Amino acid sequence: MSRQNLVDAASKVRARAYAPYSKFAVGAALLTRSGKIFTGCNVENVSLGLTICAERAAVAAAIADGEKEFEAIAVVTDFREPVFPCGACRQVLAEFNPDLEVVTATTQGRSETVSLTALLPRARQKILEPGRSV
Ligand code: THU
Repeated sequence: MSRQNLVDAASKVRARAYAPYSKFAVGAALLTRSGKIFTGCNVENVSLGLTICAERAAVAAAIADGEKEFEAIAVVTDFREPVFPCGACRQVLAEFNPDLEVVTATTQGRSETVSLTALLPRARQKILEPGRSV
């Protein structure tokens, strides 16, 4: 799976964003280790804090399909420079792969690739591990 294909999938789903308040449409495409792509777009709400980011929508779609082994995520916006996932999305992505490859691109063709480790260092330092109670 080429990274360009992943960016194209994010770009396509971006058109479906529901962003009447910010008018800032975001598309995300998550690549699983098995080669599948799951997409998501931002879904805003009149109660602004309830907005769902594109990245977390893509994670929810993948999990609902039984996939949780993620290799890379592409994020596409039309901002002048590549936009990186917000803190909440970094944490949610790190739950499944702290070393996830993050490809962020603009509709104008600029892009950057970073490891999630660089965006959220020491994410594995969790008090609770899945399956273990406090
Ligand atoms: N947004 C995302 O969906 N992902 C990002 O990485 C950046 C921000 C959304 C949230 C909100 O709907 C709009 O973009 C403006 O912040």
